[in-house]
Amino acid sequence: MSTLFDSYDLVGLTLANRIVMAPMTRARAPDTIPPEQMALYYAQRAGAGLIITESAQVSAQGRGYLCTPGIHTPEQIAGWRRTTDAVHRAGGRIFVQLWHVGRISHTSLHAGGAAPVAPVAVAAARTMVQALDGEGQPAQVPASQPVALDSAGIRAVIEDFRRAARNAMAAGFDGVEIHAGNGFLFEQFINGGLNTRGDAYGGAPIANRLRLLLETVDGVATDIGSKRVGVRVSPFARLGDLHAFEGEEATWLALAGALAQRGLAYVHASHLGTPAFEQSFRSAYCGTLILAGGFTAETAQQAVASGRADLVVFGRPFIANPDLVERLRHDWPLAQAGDEALYGGGTRGYTDYPAYSAYRPTATPAAQPLPA
Ligand SMILES: Cc1cc2nc3c(=O)[nH]c(=O)nc-3n(C[C@H](O)[C@H](O)[C@H](O)COP(=O)(O)O)c2cc1C
Repeated sequence: MSTLFDSYDLVGLTLANRIVMAPMTRARAPDTIPPEQMALYYAQRAGAGLIITESAQVSAQGRGYLCTPGIHTPEQIAGWRRTTDAVHRAGGRIFVQLWHVGRISHTSLHAGGAAPVAPVAVAAARTMVQALDGEGQPAQVPASQPVALDSAGIRAVIEDFRRAARNAMAAGFDGVEIHAGNGFLFEQFINGGLNTRGDAYGGAPIANRLRLLLETVDGVATDIGSKRVGVRVSPFARLGDLHAFEGEEATWLALAGALAQRGLAYVHASHLGTPAFEQSFRSAYCGTLILAGGFTAETAQQAVASGRADLVVFGRPFIANPDLVERLRHDWPLAQAGDEALYGGGTRGYTDYPAYSAYRPTATPAAQPLPA
């Protein structure tokens, strides 16, 4: 029976255990360049079998929030290099999550106040992003009205992902994760309710709505090798004003089947809906499956032992417990992260959470003096 603490062969990359640190945006890159502190933050968490970084935008166009890092300029690549070096020195493995937010963005984040892009010119209702208000001050503002990508624009997006993946290799990452979940660009194309385009990238045919993601995956795999590529999906998360649509289960299962043929590192899924659908998805995608969302030590162990997942993601628990793997291994208590320092700010609530060993009274019971 497999346990969370067994090593795992991720198509040739050995992971020390089956615990994955979730991609988590922390918004601490005011100039979009990964700061020095980020290297410490990830190195502190290098006990994870695999770290998936926060999202990094593949282009200026793909940016949707203030203070998120990019991976499209030489300065950003150099910034990331500090992080990959620090994690590797600490014995960890690290993939970078690549994103393009599509319509979940605001004109204040783009040169000349340009509109964000999307499959169709429909704004995400009731969706806020962290951008600049009318006075140029950081604020939560409604996502702007986007423009529809034309075919040259679609080709440019694919090129941006390919370049970003090559940049990731130059920055020393072990691989990349293409973010196709949480209501961002790829999911906007996949969603049949939103994507009513009349060309080969939209409309009723499932293959049309999957085309942008699959062409991107194939392009990136050509450049860096399929076994360095993961894909994240969140089928029923309903984020970014995306809603249920006709044939959605068939759409996601078709994607799982298409990804299964591509020899990828993994598929990473959250919000798979019912246990029955999760099982169908697992059957359709026969490669390494990473599951995310609300796991505890116990449920994660069950997921790995039962074969429900190959690897299990922990998100929030990694924020306040840099040594999470050791705490789970020894059943040590977990610290809880508050909400106030999740996004933005400095070192507080970021790199100042101690390892458990730092405040345990003695290292081990055996080290305590024997009673007289
Ligand atoms: C502060 C924070 C930032 C997040 N940022 C991202 C992100 O950049 N990309 C992503 O795919 N998911 C993101 N997520 C979702 C997490 O990857 C994960 O799915 C979620 O936290 C559920 O796992 P948990 O219950 O173990 O925390 C974020 C979650 C949190 C709490």
